[in-house]
Amino acid sequence: MTASNSNAPKQNCRIVAIDGPAGSGKSTTAKLVAARLGYQYLDTGAMYRALTWHALQNGIAPSDEPTLARIAAELTIDFETHADANRVFLNGIEVTNEIRTPEVTRHVSEVSAHHGVRVAMVEKQKAMGKKGCIVAEGRDTTTVVFPQADLKIYLIAAVDERAKRRLEDLRKLGVSSSIGEQVADLERRDHFDSNRQHSPLTRAKDAFEIDTTSLTIEQQVDRIIGLLS
Ligand code: DC
Repeated sequence: MTASNSNAPKQNCRIVAIDGPAGSGKSTTAKLVAARLGYQYLDTGAMYRALTWHALQNGIAPSDEPTLARIAAELTIDFETHADANRVFLNGIEVTNEIRTPEVTRHVSEVSAHHGVRVAMVEKQKAMGKKGCIVAEGRDTTTVVFPQADLKIYLIAAVDERAKRRLEDLRKLGVSSSIGEQVADLERRDHFDSNRQHSPLTRAKDAFEIDTTSLTIEQQVDRIIGLLS
């Protein structure tokens, strides 16, 4: 894994873990917090998305846990962080945009719910966090991957606002959708992610909850940095 946010000062190499429902602003916030601290940014959702993309490309059913768990353990996922762009590579092939398509989004909840898949991914994530100086973002980063994190954040936002943000992200990728479609997709994912058996979406007891509905990205980042100092 490569990270090149080398300009900002590194303080004590702490671990920050950020969780919350889909579209709550985790990725953008975590990326900027990492850049401000000069830390590595770890997008754990991108890892599940990369596996899902790989499965769809190779005709592997999202329900096929044994095959997916085996592939999750074997494949290599690398990140390259440049300024605020986070590039994702699967077995050396760039999949940064491919993993954000609606098709991958539709199937990633099912793929990421398999216990065998999670075991393999969590092992990779813990290894990436060994040196500290990391801002990790995603489901279970505050509870399973880095329960020892120095700061745990749980971001929430109203579903309409989350749908608006998703729509804007998709527009940048050239994908057309609607607010209604995005609200329905987010509600479906919230329900699935909160009710699944392994690592459901839950707020860690010692996580700080931040409602981002009416906050700018800068305000979210400032709050988190403020909590660290
Ligand atoms: O944050 P995201 O939308 O990129 O996450 C994609 C999916 O992967 C989402 O359904 C939640 C799941 N996920 C997970 O199960 N565990 C993580 N650590 C990160 C994401």
